[in-house]
Amino acid sequence: MVIKKAKRIQELPPYLFAEIDKKKNALKARGADIISLGIGDPDLPTPPHIVAKLREAAGNPAHHRYPDYEGMPSFRRAAADWYASRFGVRLDADREVVSLIGSKEGIAHMPIAFVDPGDVVLCPDPGYPVYAVGTGFCGGVVYRMPLRRENAFLPDLSAIPDDVAKAAKLMWLCYPNNPTSATATREFFRDAIAFAKRHEIILCHDAAYSEIYFDGERPMSFLEIDGAREVGIEFHSLSKTYNMTGWRVGFAVGNEELVAGLGKVKTNVDSGVFQAVQEAGIAALSSDQGCVESGRAIYQRRRDLVLKALAKAGLKAVTPKATFYVWVENPKGLDSASFASRVLEETAVVITPGTGFGPSGEGYVRFSLTVADDRLAEAVARIERLSL
Ligand SMILES: Cc1ncc(COP(=O)(O)O)c(C=O)c1O
Repeated sequence: MVIKKAKRIQELPPYLFAEIDKKKNALKARGADIISLGIGDPDLPTPPHIVAKLREAAGNPAHHRYPDYEGMPSFRRAAADWYASRFGVRLDADREVVSLIGSKEGIAHMPIAFVDPGDVVLCPDPGYPVYAVGTGFCGGVVYRMPLRRENAFLPDLSAIPDDVAKAAKLMWLCYPNNPTSATATREFFRDAIAFAKRHEIILCHDAAYSEIYFDGERPMSFLEIDGAREVGIEFHSLSKTYNMTGWRVGFAVGNEELVAGLGKVKTNVDSGVFQAVQEAGIAALSSDQGCVESGRAIYQRRRDLVLKALAKAGLKAVTPKATFYVWVENPKGLDSASFASRVLEETAVVITPGTGFGPSGEGYVRFSLTVADDRLAEAVARIERLSL
């Protein structure tokens, strides 16, 4: 029998890193010491008090059963309390918070609840690929909103044609932004909310990097703006804040109908987060946040190290205000894929071509700061010697 994949899988964009992977493997086979600055996965361990809580909670038989799909009331309360103390936003833990098996799960499932075939979904370009993939899985149509340097990597909402805005059902935003590292202003969020209201568009804000910020400039939650709760939902992750990518825990908060819609999908496709992990999540959210502060200091030091090396190599970078990524312009005459390939060939350092995040990522590559200090120092020394 011929096994044929569904169109939604066949239509997935080609794997953009195939060429880089081929080169990486060839270099490895020749014994090269590869350093990957390609992936945003913290090298730092999960703080010990969170691990200890999981150990203790894993021994409790009450946690061995199916969890509540929407999250334990205590986990949702901890998320709401964290929101109140961090952003000054009050949430109803029962109706305005849902736990997620990592924010990726919620982001991928959101269109199942709200996007019908043919509905337009506005996605940032460059952007986290799951916005577009989740849309495509539901037969939605992706409209790419370019993020350009001259517009501080914010989408130009006035450039969205009226017919597109009319057909749009949902819009994704992400600040602090992966991959450009930009942050959003209060004015921008205000405009986006007004735009969403005017065109009846659901506003989804991905705030996975809200706690990885520099120079004391704390990014805001878009729910701090009046009217946000009428149109929007915000996605949070414990992955980056507490170095918990492998644990798979996050949450979404905001408009109760949007939270309920997402919850309805979850009741039908998964059964929520392992309760012992939720207990550890509670410990993360409600304990002293000193570990988050130390993480930020480490990333800020690494950011400065990388910026210095890039400048020495004559490369132009966007100075990140947040996230653990550095968005770097291609040198003249090279496209993103060839720039990333040249860096790999000359230094054995893996970076991500901007086009991996959408066509408007052309012109840039992304460096990630999530490798141990000694490896980053080695990568930086090699980059300083680059001659492009
Ligand atoms: C912008 C953005 N959103 C969401 C996620 C998903 O994170 P998680 O599913 O670990 O919460 C990532 C992961 O890299 C990301 O970069």
